[in-house]
Amino acid sequence: MFLSSKDIRNTYLNFFNSKEHTIISSASLIPQNDSTLLFTNSGMSPLVPYLLGEKHPGGSRLTNCQKSFRTEDIEDVGDNRHTTFFEMLGNWSLGDYFKNDQLNWWYELLIDKFKLDSKKLYQSVYVGDDSIEKDNDSIRIISNVFSKYGIIADEGPETTGKGDLGPGFEIDFNKYRIFAYRDKNWWQRGDAIGELGGPDSETFYDTGKKHNPKFGRHCHVNCDCGRFLEIGNSVFMQYQKTKKGWVPLANKNVDFGGGLERITMILQNKDNIFETDLFINVLKKIESLSGKKYRDNMSPFEIIADHLKAATFIMGDDKGITPSNVDQGYVVRRLIRRALRYGMQIGIAKESWTYDIAETIISDYSEIYPELDRNKNFILNSLNDEENKFIKTLEKGLIEVEKIYNNIINKGAEFTITGEQAFNIYQTYGFPIEMIHEEIKKRNGKIINEEDFQKFFKKHQDTSRTAAAGKFKGGLADHSIKTTALHTAAHLLLAALRKLLGDQVTQKGSNINAERLRYDFSYPSKLTPSELEQIENLVNDAIKKNLSISQEELTVNEAKKRNAIGVFDSKYGEKVKVYKIAKDSDVFSYEICGGPHLDYTGKMGKFKITKEESSSAGVRRIKAILIK
Ligand code: SER
Repeated sequence: MFLSSKDIRNTYLNFFNSKEHTIISSASLIPQNDSTLLFTNSGMSPLVPYLLGEKHPGGSRLTNCQKSFRTEDIEDVGDNRHTTFFEMLGNWSLGDYFKNDQLNWWYELLIDKFKLDSKKLYQSVYVGDDSIEKDNDSIRIISNVFSKYGIIADEGPETTGKGDLGPGFEIDFNKYRIFAYRDKNWWQRGDAIGELGGPDSETFYDTGKKHNPKFGRHCHVNCDCGRFLEIGNSVFMQYQKTKKGWVPLANKNVDFGGGLERITMILQNKDNIFETDLFINVLKKIESLSGKKYRDNMSPFEIIADHLKAATFIMGDDKGITPSNVDQGYVVRRLIRRALRYGMQIGIAKESWTYDIAETIISDYSEIYPELDRNKNFILNSLNDEENKFIKTLEKGLIEVEKIYNNIINKGAEFTITGEQAFNIYQTYGFPIEMIHEEIKKRNGKIINEEDFQKFFKKHQDTSRTAAAGKFKGGLADHSIKTTALHTAAHLLLAALRKLLGDQVTQKGSNINAERLRYDFSYPSKLTPSELEQIENLVNDAIKKNLSISQEELTVNEAKKRNAIGVFDSKYGEKVKVYKIAKDSDVFSYEICGGPHLDYTGKMGKFKITKEESSSAGVRRIKAILIK
């Protein structure tokens, strides 16, 4: 029976709903209160406060399908199973059930509901290290799960080395189904102090593909040859990173994530995620635009499909991200331009063709993600603008090549461009090296010292990676008292801005650490010194009055009805937390937020704005501190 991706998404959510999980909406791709990420990169990211012990309005069992984006996968797109944008099916226990229920339910879903062949399933577990013991519990549980289906599942050879290169000898996959690894079976989102982590247990599906010795003499479940496909990861999230190392959290949590694209690939019997119904319409569109076949041009087709889908989803969030040179806008620009380049490579000549692809993506997904439809014009116009800008840039690059050519030819010399010149054209005009090659070839010239291009290119990549890592920030840096006080100050600031400038002011982003608060909001013009002073006064008055901060859980429609401000990511009927800053019936701020906050404003000290500047078109940025 054919299962559509829509059936798969629903079956997963309904299955966990039947196990008493509340179905929650996908959060925005742009993190709200998270200092460590530029994009939501997994289902657990928006849930960090709850994994740390905050109460979730949906209770202690949650499930969802989360829009996710990972830039680090950008170079891997084109290998049949990697994308930058993906949907992550997730279920969570916030200090509720643990390993036994998680592993039993997951296999019940795979084998009983999705009817996967149990003989094709394999599982990895954490091998242990000096401070955290081997996950023998999971080994026992998984072995019992398999025996329920009449399969003997023994533990195979351990892989204890760093980097997890595999055991290095041939494994009998009929006998062994459970394998212990070190690095591969420890999950943490990042390296910063405060990050959460824990041993994990991954599920692999044997695609039956022949092992490719290019990836190592013998195959193993984590081998990169593609025979075994990872389809889900149960993280037993029970530690937090401190300066002294990993310490146990108050709660033992479960964080499960499985890529919808990969699960769909195996349930639809495809050997490539791009051939599933999650991509097929886009590929067909690229075929008709280019007149070429996907099967003959897999990699460029996949890059175009992935990048334009990611760009469409990022611009389709209600946050108004457009291509630019900073933060999320920079990533969107890179995605669109890379897609445009590959479009040229496969001969797409139509003007504004990215528009056609985005329309296909929007029509494929808007039933599930209605924000895409809501923001359709914004997405399509932004794509058009970016395509025009890129073409202009390329034209300037061409003029530069022409100038170098004329200079040389006028001197009667052979036409050559040095690697350094080629790199300068690339850097200034975004003119890709393969196109520089083509232009030189057309003029019967050649590049000399081409290794210089690679040298400069590598240096440039390292710097932009570092710059990107530094940029990947937004939200709360930690949950210390100082950061929490500035988070409460951010609520007072938004309320003050709206009191003074009007209700059209909304939050566009924030970044808060123990030292200062950075706050972006919609407003068309620069604030005057007198406006800034009035805002400071409004906030400081609220602090002096020692308002109390309380929290309530409301359905989204109730919160809307009561005029709460904030991002309405969640669906009608779903519960959200609303923080109220008030003295008796005199309410200063009423905002949807995950927390945490102080209990009284009197503890905050004095609020001071240190800077007001433009952030992007129509968005202003205020930097502020709290002083004693
Ligand atoms: N956090 C884990 C992951 O992203 C499981 O959800 O893979």
